[in-house]
Amino acid sequence: MQEFQNKVAFITGAASGIGLGLARTLAGVGMKVVMADVRTDVLNAAAAHLAAEKARVLPLSLDVTDRAAWAEAAERVERELGPVEVLCSNAGVNFIGATQDATFQDWDFGLGVNLGGAVNAVRTFAPRMIDHRRGGHIVITSSVSGLFTGGGSGVYATTKYALVGLAESLRADLRKHGIGVSVLCPGPVKSELFESTAAVRPRRMEETGSIPVVPPGVARETTPIFVTAPTGEDVGRQVLAGIRRNDLYILTHPEIRPVLEARAAALIAALPPGAVDPARLEASRGLLDTSLYAPARS
Ligand code: NAI
Repeated sequence: MQEFQNKVAFITGAASGIGLGLARTLAGVGMKVVMADVRTDVLNAAAAHLAAEKARVLPLSLDVTDRAAWAEAAERVERELGPVEVLCSNAGVNFIGATQDATFQDWDFGLGVNLGGAVNAVRTFAPRMIDHRRGGHIVITSSVSGLFTGGGSGVYATTKYALVGLAESLRADLRKHGIGVSVLCPGPVKSELFESTAAVRPRRMEETGSIPVVPPGVARETTPIFVTAPTGEDVGRQVLAGIRRNDLYILTHPEIRPVLEARAAALIAALPPGAVDPARLEASRGLLDTSLYAPARS
């Protein structure tokens, strides 16, 4: 996608962090930006700030798990601003805790917002984008936690791996409609993720195995992982470049290379030894299409 002027972008989780950076970046190239978020006060303040910079933004209070609200939002946006051509499904929550300690409520919450929210975004807008026949682009925010993982974040990693699968499948299905799909997999970024999770987590989950707070002993102002992190706006610029090139993966932190290489090597090493059965190879040709992973530059 090359032309952005006067087109409509819809971004979830736009009140702060990466979503806010995306909003500023896309407004900066002339888009009309719908900023959707469930923290209405924070959202309205952020939107007012951007509007004061002459950005064309519409703050929209939306809980991404609420399907009826998604339908209403889509109707309203199309009526007031026009068809959505860039969709950024970015809202998310994160909490820490050993995977086996996560309660069913933790799972329902994490899966509901991170994965369910993206499913709702795609189900609401992808058919509309096809019907409008204007092409466009969808960005799904996953994480480096959707590419590799360690301990202490099993719910989060599960949702983020799922989002990579969602984005890759969607890209394959939307290709023929001229709609690009990217999955954004950032490393640590300056944001309000733990704080916003604490703010939006249902009260009934206060007694739980997983913790939606900045980990104990960690401070945003002094802990190196936060101090050295890029801003949401830095990521916004990387996403815009990725949309222009129609990149499948938008990665932000080159230092993850050794882990990606180790994981890819582990997968390859796990292949059973021995010769490939030619008949089986022929029978599964359709499943072995590598074209999705070919670098796209449009
Ligand atoms: P953030 O807290 O600044 O932004 C997340 C936004 O999502 C918040 O404004 C929050 O109110 C909103 N949100 C939460 N639940 C919602 C719901 N049910 N409906 C609508 N909005 C809801 O945090 P950040 O980091 O900018 O997060 C954006 C995305 O980036 C998330 O998906 C996160 O998992 C992902 N990410 C963040 C990284 C980081 O280091 N900050 C790294 C990798 C991925």
